[in-house]
Amino acid sequence: MINRFIIFILFILCSCNKYEPICECINVPDPTPMSLSYPNNFPSPNIPVWNPLTEEGVNLGRHLFYDPILSSDNTVSCASCHKLTSAFADDSQYSIGVGQALGERNAPTIMNVAFQNVFDWDGKSSSLEQQAVRPIFNEVELHNNNWTEVISRLKMSELYSSLFCAAFGTEDIDSLHILMAISQFERTLNSFNSRFDQWFYNGGPYTPEEMDGFNIFATERGDCFHCHPIGLFTDNTFHNNGLDSDFNDLGRYNITGNPLDEGLFKSPTLRNIEFTAPYMHDGRFNTLDEVIEHYNFGGYDSPTVDPLMKYVGKGLLLTEQEKSNLKAFLLSLSDSSFINNLEHANPFYE
Ligand code: HEC
Ligand code: HEC
Repeated sequence: MINRFIIFILFILCSCNKYEPICECINVPDPTPMSLSYPNNFPSPNIPVWNPLTEEGVNLGRHLFYDPILSSDNTVSCASCHKLTSAFADDSQYSIGVGQALGERNAPTIMNVAFQNVFDWDGKSSSLEQQAVRPIFNEVELHNNNWTEVISRLKMSELYSSLFCAAFGTEDIDSLHILMAISQFERTLNSFNSRFDQWFYNGGPYTPEEMDGFNIFATERGDCFHCHPIGLFTDNTFHNNGLDSDFNDLGRYNITGNPLDEGLFKSPTLRNIEFTAPYMHDGRFNTLDEVIEHYNFGGYDSPTVDPLMKYVGKGLLLTEQEKSNLKAFLLSLSDSSFINNLEHANPFYE
Protein backbone atom coordinates (compact mmCIF):
# COMPACT_ATOMS: atom_id res chain seq x y z
CA MET A 1 0.00 0.00 0.00
CA ILE A 2 2.74 2.41 1.09
CA ASN A 3 4.75 1.52 -2.01
CA ARG A 4 1.80 2.27 -4.23
CA PHE A 5 1.33 5.59 -2.46
CA ILE A 6 4.98 6.52 -3.03
CA ILE A 7 4.74 5.56 -6.68
CA PHE A 8 1.60 7.66 -6.97
CA ILE A 9 3.38 10.68 -5.44
CA LEU A 10 6.39 10.15 -7.71
CA PHE A 11 4.04 9.95 -10.66
CA ILE A 12 2.46 13.29 -9.68
CA LEU A 13 5.86 14.97 -9.24
CA CYS A 14 7.29 13.60 -12.46
CA SER A 15 4.21 14.53 -14.43
CA CYS A 16 4.78 18.17 -13.51
CA ASN A 17 4.99 19.85 -16.87
CA LYS A 18 7.84 22.35 -16.95
CA TYR A 19 5.47 24.91 -18.32
CA GLU A 20 2.83 24.32 -15.64
CA PRO A 21 4.93 23.49 -12.64
CA ILE A 22 2.63 24.81 -9.91
CA CYS A 23 2.30 21.42 -8.24
CA GLU A 24 5.81 21.35 -6.74
CA CYS A 25 5.50 24.64 -4.92
CA ILE A 26 3.39 23.57 -1.96
CA ASN A 27 3.79 24.19 1.76
CA VAL A 28 6.66 26.65 1.28
CA PRO A 29 7.33 28.83 4.33
CA ASP A 30 6.18 32.44 4.17
CA PRO A 31 8.89 34.78 2.88
CA THR A 32 10.88 36.65 5.54
CA PRO A 33 9.86 40.30 5.96
CA MET A 34 12.68 42.79 5.52
CA SER A 35 12.83 46.38 6.71
CA LEU A 36 14.88 49.22 5.26
CA SER A 37 17.13 51.28 7.47
CA TYR A 38 17.59 54.89 6.43
CA PRO A 39 18.55 58.18 8.08
CA ASN A 40 15.90 60.57 9.39
CA ASN A 41 16.89 63.23 6.86
CA PHE A 42 15.40 60.96 4.16
CA PRO A 43 11.67 60.94 3.41
CA SER A 44 9.75 57.70 4.08
CA PRO A 45 10.33 55.07 1.40
CA ASN A 46 7.60 54.50 -1.19
CA ILE A 47 6.76 50.84 -0.70
CA PRO A 48 3.35 49.81 -2.04
CA VAL A 49 1.32 47.82 0.52
CA TRP A 50 0.89 45.07 -2.06
CA ASN A 51 4.67 44.69 -2.57
CA PRO A 52 6.35 44.57 0.86
CA LEU A 53 10.06 43.78 0.96
CA THR A 54 11.02 40.22 1.79
CA GLU A 55 14.45 38.61 1.78
CA GLU A 56 13.35 36.06 -0.80
CA GLY A 57 11.72 38.71 -3.01
CA VAL A 58 14.85 40.85 -2.96
CA ASN A 59 16.99 37.81 -3.72
CA LEU A 60 14.82 36.94 -6.74
CA GLY A 61 14.93 40.56 -7.90
CA ARG A 62 18.69 40.64 -7.59
CA HIS A 63 19.00 37.56 -9.81
CA LEU A 64 16.63 39.03 -12.39
CA PHE A 65 18.51 42.35 -12.35
CA TYR A 66 21.86 40.70 -13.11
CA ASP A 67 20.63 37.99 -15.48
CA PRO A 68 20.77 38.50 -19.28
CA ILE A 69 17.89 36.00 -19.44
CA LEU A 70 15.65 39.07 -19.33
CA SER A 71 16.92 40.23 -22.76
CA SER A 72 15.62 38.84 -26.04
CA ASP A 73 19.00 37.38 -27.06
CA ASN A 74 20.40 36.60 -23.61
CA THR A 75 23.16 39.21 -23.85
CA VAL A 76 22.07 42.25 -21.83
CA SER A 77 20.89 42.64 -18.25
CA CYS A 78 19.73 45.62 -16.22
CA ALA A 79 23.21 45.60 -14.71
CA SER A 80 24.85 46.05 -18.15
CA CYS A 81 23.78 49.70 -17.96
CA HIS A 82 23.32 50.15 -14.21
CA LYS A 83 26.74 49.07 -12.93
CA LEU A 84 27.58 48.59 -9.28
CA THR A 85 31.05 50.10 -9.79
CA SER A 86 29.40 53.22 -11.23
CA ALA A 87 26.97 53.40 -8.28
CA PHE A 88 24.35 51.82 -10.60
CA ALA A 89 24.78 54.39 -13.39
CA ASP A 90 26.61 53.76 -16.69
CA ASP A 91 30.17 54.89 -17.38
CA SER A 92 29.40 54.97 -21.13
CA GLN A 93 27.75 58.11 -22.47
CA TYR A 94 25.02 56.08 -24.18
CA SER A 95 24.31 52.55 -23.05
CA ILE A 96 24.53 49.55 -25.35
CA GLY A 97 21.41 47.41 -25.52
CA VAL A 98 20.54 44.22 -27.45
CA GLY A 99 22.23 44.05 -30.89
CA GLN A 100 24.71 46.80 -29.89
CA ALA A 101 21.91 49.37 -30.21
CA LEU A 102 22.71 52.72 -28.60
CA GLY A 103 20.21 54.69 -26.52
CA GLU A 104 19.91 58.46 -26.58
CA ARG A 105 20.33 59.20 -22.90
CA ASN A 106 22.91 58.45 -20.26
CA ALA A 107 21.71 55.79 -17.81
CA PRO A 108 21.10 57.46 -14.44
CA THR A 109 21.90 55.86 -11.11
CA ILE A 110 19.15 53.80 -9.48
CA MET A 111 20.48 54.46 -5.97
CA ASN A 112 18.01 55.65 -3.28
CA VAL A 113 15.11 55.17 -5.70
CA ALA A 114 13.01 53.81 -2.80
CA PHE A 115 12.68 57.40 -1.62
CA GLN A 116 11.65 58.91 -4.94
CA ASN A 117 8.39 59.05 -6.84
CA VAL A 118 9.30 60.03 -10.41
CA PHE A 119 11.68 58.04 -12.57
CA ASP A 120 13.60 58.49 -15.81
CA TRP A 121 15.11 61.84 -16.83
CA ASP A 122 11.71 63.10 -17.97
CA GLY A 123 9.68 61.48 -15.16
CA LYS A 124 7.70 59.24 -17.51
CA SER A 125 7.39 56.59 -14.79
CA SER A 126 5.77 57.12 -11.42
CA SER A 127 6.60 53.85 -9.68
CA LEU A 128 9.46 51.39 -9.87
CA GLU A 129 7.09 48.58 -10.76
CA GLN A 130 5.88 50.61 -13.74
CA GLN A 131 9.37 51.82 -14.68
CA ALA A 132 10.80 48.30 -14.99
CA VAL A 133 8.42 47.48 -17.87
CA ARG A 134 10.10 50.02 -20.15
CA PRO A 135 13.62 48.53 -20.32
CA ILE A 136 12.21 45.03 -20.78
CA PHE A 137 10.53 46.03 -24.07
CA ASN A 138 12.62 49.02 -25.18
CA GLU A 139 14.32 48.11 -28.45
CA VAL A 140 17.61 49.75 -27.41
CA GLU A 141 17.56 48.01 -24.04
CA LEU A 142 16.34 44.43 -23.40
CA HIS A 143 14.28 44.37 -26.61
CA ASN A 144 11.58 41.78 -25.94
CA ASN A 145 8.39 41.74 -28.00
CA ASN A 146 5.96 40.46 -25.39
CA TRP A 147 5.73 39.03 -21.90
CA THR A 148 5.13 35.50 -23.18
CA GLU A 149 8.68 35.19 -24.50
CA VAL A 150 10.19 36.60 -21.29
CA ILE A 151 8.10 34.32 -19.10
CA SER A 152 8.76 31.20 -21.17
CA ARG A 153 12.54 31.73 -20.87
CA LEU A 154 12.20 32.02 -17.09
CA LYS A 155 9.89 29.01 -16.87
CA MET A 156 12.50 26.83 -18.50
CA SER A 157 14.94 27.62 -15.72
CA GLU A 158 14.84 25.49 -12.57
CA LEU A 159 16.59 28.25 -10.69
CA TYR A 160 13.73 30.66 -11.26
CA SER A 161 11.07 28.08 -10.41
CA SER A 162 12.57 27.74 -6.97
CA LEU A 163 13.30 31.48 -6.52
CA PHE A 164 9.72 32.42 -7.46
CA CYS A 165 8.40 29.70 -5.21
CA ALA A 166 10.40 30.99 -2.22
CA ALA A 167 9.52 34.63 -2.90
CA PHE A 168 5.87 34.44 -3.82
CA GLY A 169 4.73 30.90 -2.99
CA THR A 170 4.13 30.09 -6.65
CA GLU A 171 6.10 28.81 -9.57
CA ASP A 172 3.54 30.25 -11.90
CA ILE A 173 5.84 33.01 -13.12
CA ASP A 174 4.01 36.10 -14.32
CA SER A 175 4.84 39.65 -15.30
CA LEU A 176 3.53 41.22 -12.11
CA HIS A 177 5.78 39.13 -9.87
CA ILE A 178 8.78 39.79 -12.13
CA LEU A 179 8.23 43.54 -11.74
CA MET A 180 7.55 43.24 -8.02
CA ALA A 181 10.80 41.36 -7.37
CA ILE A 182 12.97 43.72 -9.43
CA SER A 183 11.45 46.69 -7.60
CA GLN A 184 12.07 45.08 -4.23
CA PHE A 185 15.75 44.67 -5.07
CA GLU A 186 16.00 48.25 -6.32
CA ARG A 187 14.50 49.52 -3.05
CA THR A 188 17.45 48.03 -1.15
CA LEU A 189 20.10 49.98 -3.12
CA ASN A 190 20.48 52.78 -0.62
CA SER A 191 23.44 55.00 0.12
CA PHE A 192 23.78 57.37 3.09
CA ASN A 193 27.20 56.67 4.55
CA SER A 194 29.46 59.25 2.91
CA ARG A 195 32.11 61.39 4.61
CA PHE A 196 29.60 64.22 4.31
CA ASP A 197 26.99 62.24 6.30
CA GLN A 198 29.56 61.25 8.90
CA TRP A 199 30.48 64.94 9.36
CA PHE A 200 27.10 66.63 9.01
CA TYR A 201 25.06 64.24 11.13
CA ASN A 202 27.65 62.63 13.37
CA GLY A 203 30.42 65.22 13.82
CA GLY A 204 33.05 63.17 11.97
CA PRO A 205 36.17 64.67 10.34
CA TYR A 206 35.84 67.14 7.46
CA THR A 207 38.50 69.33 5.88
CA PRO A 208 38.27 73.15 5.72
CA GLU A 209 38.16 72.84 1.90
CA GLU A 210 35.17 70.46 2.04
CA MET A 211 33.46 72.76 4.54
CA ASP A 212 33.97 75.80 2.31
CA GLY A 213 32.69 73.79 -0.68
CA PHE A 214 29.62 72.85 1.33
CA ASN A 215 29.02 76.52 2.16
CA ILE A 216 29.24 77.46 -1.52
CA PHE A 217 26.78 74.65 -2.33
CA ALA A 218 24.29 75.41 0.43
CA THR A 219 24.21 79.22 0.34
CA GLU A 220 23.50 81.97 -2.21
CA ARG A 221 27.18 81.82 -3.21
CA GLY A 222 26.76 78.74 -5.41
CA ASP A 223 23.06 78.20 -4.82
CA CYS A 224 22.97 74.52 -5.70
CA PHE A 225 20.86 73.29 -2.80
CA HIS A 226 17.42 74.33 -4.07
CA CYS A 227 17.47 71.71 -6.79
CA HIS A 228 19.87 69.31 -5.04
CA PRO A 229 18.67 69.60 -1.41
CA ILE A 230 20.66 68.11 1.46
CA GLY A 231 19.48 64.58 2.19
CA LEU A 232 18.76 62.86 -1.11
CA PHE A 233 20.48 65.70 -3.08
CA THR A 234 17.64 65.62 -5.61
CA ASP A 235 14.37 67.55 -5.29
CA ASN A 236 12.70 64.88 -7.46
CA THR A 237 11.41 67.43 -9.89
CA PHE A 238 12.25 68.94 -13.27
CA HIS A 239 14.36 71.95 -14.20
CA ASN A 240 16.19 73.47 -17.12
CA ASN A 241 19.66 74.08 -15.69
CA GLY A 242 20.83 76.08 -18.70
CA LEU A 243 22.72 73.41 -20.64
CA ASP A 244 21.41 74.63 -24.03
CA SER A 245 19.36 77.37 -25.57
CA ASP A 246 18.07 75.02 -28.31
CA PHE A 247 17.12 71.51 -27.30
CA ASN A 248 17.91 68.25 -29.11
CA ASP A 249 15.95 66.41 -26.46
CA LEU A 250 12.83 68.18 -25.18
CA GLY A 251 12.87 66.21 -21.90
CA ARG A 252 9.81 66.67 -19.71
CA TYR A 253 7.91 68.27 -22.63
CA ASN A 254 7.80 64.86 -24.35
CA ILE A 255 5.63 63.64 -21.48
CA THR A 256 3.44 66.65 -20.71
CA GLY A 257 3.26 68.47 -24.07
CA ASN A 258 3.49 71.70 -22.10
CA PRO A 259 5.80 74.26 -23.78
CA LEU A 260 6.94 75.40 -20.32
CA ASP A 261 8.50 71.95 -19.90
CA GLU A 262 10.79 72.14 -22.94
CA GLY A 263 14.33 71.17 -21.98
CA LEU A 264 13.47 70.24 -18.39
CA PHE A 265 15.02 67.14 -16.82
CA LYS A 266 14.86 65.55 -13.39
CA SER A 267 17.52 66.88 -11.01
CA PRO A 268 19.81 63.90 -10.48
CA THR A 269 21.02 62.99 -7.02
CA LEU A 270 24.61 64.07 -6.35
CA ARG A 271 25.38 61.22 -3.98
CA ASN A 272 28.28 59.08 -5.27
CA ILE A 273 28.76 61.64 -8.05
CA GLU A 274 32.42 60.63 -8.16
CA PHE A 275 31.37 57.25 -9.59
CA THR A 276 28.49 58.18 -11.92
CA ALA A 277 30.37 60.01 -14.73
CA PRO A 278 29.66 61.00 -17.45
CA TYR A 279 27.18 63.66 -16.36
CA MET A 280 23.83 65.15 -17.47
CA HIS A 281 20.98 63.43 -19.37
CA ASP A 282 23.16 63.10 -22.46
CA GLY A 283 26.40 62.39 -20.64
CA ARG A 284 28.00 65.47 -22.22
CA PHE A 285 30.44 66.18 -19.40
CA ASN A 286 33.10 63.66 -18.54
CA THR A 287 34.40 65.31 -15.38
CA LEU A 288 33.14 67.21 -12.37
CA ASP A 289 35.44 70.07 -13.40
CA GLU A 290 33.40 70.46 -16.59
CA VAL A 291 30.16 70.44 -14.58
CA ILE A 292 31.51 73.09 -12.22
CA GLU A 293 32.63 75.20 -15.22
CA HIS A 294 29.08 74.98 -16.59
CA TYR A 295 27.57 76.37 -13.40
CA ASN A 296 30.40 78.87 -12.99
CA PHE A 297 29.67 80.20 -16.49
CA GLY A 298 26.01 80.51 -15.38
CA GLY A 299 24.30 78.48 -18.14
CA TYR A 300 22.58 79.41 -21.41
CA ASP A 301 19.45 81.51 -21.45
CA SER A 302 16.18 80.22 -22.97
CA PRO A 303 12.46 80.77 -22.31
CA THR A 304 12.34 77.79 -19.93
CA VAL A 305 15.60 78.27 -18.04
CA ASP A 306 14.88 77.85 -14.34
CA PRO A 307 14.52 81.00 -12.21
CA LEU A 308 16.76 79.24 -9.68
CA MET A 309 19.59 79.43 -12.25
CA LYS A 310 20.22 82.94 -10.93
CA TYR A 311 23.57 83.43 -12.57
CA VAL A 312 22.57 83.04 -16.24
CA GLY A 313 24.35 85.76 -18.21
CA LYS A 314 26.42 86.73 -15.17
CA GLY A 315 28.30 83.66 -14.05
CA LEU A 316 29.12 82.58 -10.53
CA LEU A 317 32.66 83.97 -10.78
CA LEU A 318 34.11 81.38 -8.44
CA THR A 319 37.86 81.63 -7.78
CA GLU A 320 40.05 78.62 -8.63
CA GLN A 321 40.19 77.84 -4.91
CA GLU A 322 36.39 77.98 -4.61
CA LYS A 323 35.94 75.66 -7.60
CA SER A 324 38.35 73.20 -6.09
CA ASN A 325 36.57 73.41 -2.72
CA LEU A 326 33.17 72.84 -4.37
CA LYS A 327 34.64 69.77 -6.03
CA ALA A 328 36.06 68.56 -2.69
CA PHE A 329 32.56 68.84 -1.22
CA LEU A 330 31.03 66.89 -4.14
CA LEU A 331 33.65 64.17 -3.69
CA SER A 332 32.77 63.95 0.01
CA LEU A 333 29.38 62.54 -1.10
CA SER A 334 31.08 59.27 -2.10
CA ASP A 335 30.06 56.20 -0.14
CA SER A 336 32.53 53.42 -0.85
CA SER A 337 30.63 51.07 1.49
CA PHE A 338 27.79 51.32 -1.04
CA ILE A 339 29.68 50.35 -4.17
CA ASN A 340 31.54 47.63 -2.28
CA ASN A 341 28.43 46.12 -0.70
CA LEU A 342 28.40 42.46 -1.74
CA GLU A 343 24.65 42.26 -1.14
CA HIS A 344 24.27 44.55 -4.16
CA ALA A 345 26.67 42.56 -6.34
CA ASN A 346 26.09 39.99 -9.06
CA PRO A 347 24.70 36.85 -7.34
CA PHE A 348 25.94 34.61 -10.16
CA TYR A 349 29.58 35.29 -9.21
CA GLU A 350 29.18 34.44 -5.53
C1 HEC B 1 20.70 49.45 -22.44
C2 HEC B 1 20.82 50.15 -21.19
C3 HEC B 1 19.80 49.94 -20.10
C4 HEC B 1 19.30 48.75 -19.64
C5 HEC B 1 19.57 47.35 -20.15
C6 HEC B 1 18.44 49.10 -18.54
N1 HEC B 1 18.43 50.44 -18.33
FE1 HEC B 1 17.49 51.43 -16.83
N2 HEC B 1 17.91 53.17 -17.71
C7 HEC B 1 18.67 53.34 -18.87
C8 HEC B 1 18.53 54.69 -19.36
C9 HEC B 1 19.21 55.27 -20.58
C10 HEC B 1 17.64 55.35 -18.48
C11 HEC B 1 17.10 56.77 -18.61
C12 HEC B 1 15.89 56.67 -19.51
C13 HEC B 1 15.18 57.97 -19.80
O1 HEC B 1 15.37 58.94 -19.09
O2 HEC B 1 14.41 58.00 -20.77
C14 HEC B 1 17.30 54.38 -17.44
C15 HEC B 1 16.51 54.65 -16.32
C16 HEC B 1 16.23 53.74 -15.31
C17 HEC B 1 15.59 54.05 -14.05
C18 HEC B 1 15.17 55.42 -13.57
C19 HEC B 1 16.14 55.96 -12.52
C20 HEC B 1 15.80 57.33 -12.02
O3 HEC B 1 16.37 57.75 -11.00
O4 HEC B 1 14.99 58.03 -12.63
C21 HEC B 1 15.44 52.86 -13.39
C22 HEC B 1 14.82 52.66 -12.01
C23 HEC B 1 15.98 51.83 -14.23
N3 HEC B 1 16.46 52.39 -15.39
C24 HEC B 1 15.95 50.47 -13.94
C25 HEC B 1 16.27 49.48 -14.87
C26 HEC B 1 15.93 48.07 -14.72
C27 HEC B 1 15.19 47.49 -13.54
C28 HEC B 1 16.41 47.43 -15.83
C29 HEC B 1 16.27 45.97 -16.19
C30 HEC B 1 14.92 45.45 -16.22
C31 HEC B 1 17.05 48.44 -16.64
N4 HEC B 1 16.93 49.66 -16.04
C32 HEC B 1 17.72 48.16 -17.82
C33 HEC B 1 19.44 52.36 -19.46
C34 HEC B 1 19.24 51.01 -19.28
C1 HEC C 1 17.64 75.02 -11.24
C2 HEC C 1 18.00 73.78 -10.61
C3 HEC C 1 19.47 73.44 -10.44
C4 HEC C 1 20.45 74.17 -9.83
C5 HEC C 1 20.34 75.55 -9.19
C6 HEC C 1 21.65 73.36 -9.88
N1 HEC C 1 21.38 72.18 -10.51
FE1 HEC C 1 22.68 70.71 -10.87
N2 HEC C 1 21.34 69.78 -12.05
C7 HEC C 1 20.05 70.18 -12.24
C8 HEC C 1 19.44 69.40 -13.29
C9 HEC C 1 18.01 69.52 -13.81
C10 HEC C 1 20.43 68.51 -13.75
C11 HEC C 1 20.30 67.52 -14.91
C12 HEC C 1 20.24 68.33 -16.19
C13 HEC C 1 20.22 67.55 -17.47
O1 HEC C 1 20.79 66.47 -17.52
O2 HEC C 1 19.67 68.06 -18.45
C14 HEC C 1 21.62 68.77 -12.93
C15 HEC C 1 22.80 68.07 -13.04
C16 HEC C 1 23.88 68.24 -12.17
C17 HEC C 1 25.03 67.37 -12.11
C18 HEC C 1 25.23 66.11 -12.95
C19 HEC C 1 24.62 64.93 -12.25
C20 HEC C 1 24.56 63.66 -13.06
O3 HEC C 1 24.46 62.58 -12.45
O4 HEC C 1 24.59 63.70 -14.29
C21 HEC C 1 25.87 67.87 -11.15
C22 HEC C 1 27.19 67.29 -10.70
C23 HEC C 1 25.24 69.06 -10.63
N3 HEC C 1 24.03 69.24 -11.26
C24 HEC C 1 25.77 69.87 -9.63
C25 HEC C 1 25.26 71.12 -9.33
C26 HEC C 1 25.99 72.11 -8.58
C27 HEC C 1 27.39 71.94 -8.03
C28 HEC C 1 25.20 73.23 -8.54
C29 HEC C 1 25.51 74.60 -7.97
C30 HEC C 1 26.68 75.24 -8.51
C31 HEC C 1 23.95 72.88 -9.21
N4 HEC C 1 24.03 71.59 -9.68
C32 HEC C 1 22.85 73.73 -9.34
C33 HEC C 1 19.40 71.18 -11.56
C34 HEC C 1 20.08 72.19 -10.87
